[in-house]
Amino acid sequence: SRLHILESTTSTQIEAIKLAEEGAEAGTLVISDMQTSGRGRLGRSWFSPAGKGIWMSLVLRPELPVRFMPQLTLLTGVAVCSAIRTVTGVEAGLKWPNDILIGGRKVCGILLEAATEDNKVRYCIAGIGIDVNLSEQDYPEELRSIATSLRMEAGTSVSRSKLIGAVMNELEARYLQYEKEGFAPILKEWEALSASIGKQVRSVALNQVIEGTAIGLSDSGGLMVLTEEGMNSTIFSGEVEII
Ligand code: BTN
Repeated sequence: SRLHILESTTSTQIEAIKLAEEGAEAGTLVISDMQTSGRGRLGRSWFSPAGKGIWMSLVLRPELPVRFMPQLTLLTGVAVCSAIRTVTGVEAGLKWPNDILIGGRKVCGILLEAATEDNKVRYCIAGIGIDVNLSEQDYPEELRSIATSLRMEAGTSVSRSKLIGAVMNELEARYLQYEKEGFAPILKEWEALSASIGKQVRSVALNQVIEGTAIGLSDSGGLMVLTEEGMNSTIFSGEVEII
């Protein structure tokens, strides 16, 4: 079946990868009430307490060369960000490449993992973690100043099932649009929802520091930065801090 709802698992990414390897069709969704070892980007862990968030992974089977994966990542961010805005009315914004922030604090993280063959995507798992109904006390000390939840921001609890439905609808619409019209409309929308553009940013990748004003996205989805020396640099990977 296409919908797998679990009470607990190590990581919905791992469950979804297992299903994809067994031939699960595109659109297969794994949702868990909690995760015991939720994973984040860059080898980090993801705090996933029971009953308070949306921890889910979606199997995708795009017919795409691997180099287009960053576009798919940005597309997912756009879909989740607009679903959050529609359902809660809160002004969530995107931080490159795909964190969703409210008032500078992270409310959602997105992790795309792809299995590839001959530079083509065999399947891809879009992992989405949204802090929905956590309260301040639910967070461990080290997350309190950097994370927030929809409930803390909206001042009222938010229906997880309603938000999951909205995310899936937005994702499907963007996905079809991407197949028909390519990346340009998604890129425009990402920029409109962006919390990064116009801000001072700093990125550290491969021991190189780039600091400047984020001015937009490149055609392939990199973040373009205008440095103080007047240089135009595009960042394609790693971490970008808003300073
Ligand atoms: C990040 O910002 O570092 C990405 C976080 C992604 C978390 C989600 S929760 C559902 C899915 N399962 C995981 O183990 N991780 C992703």
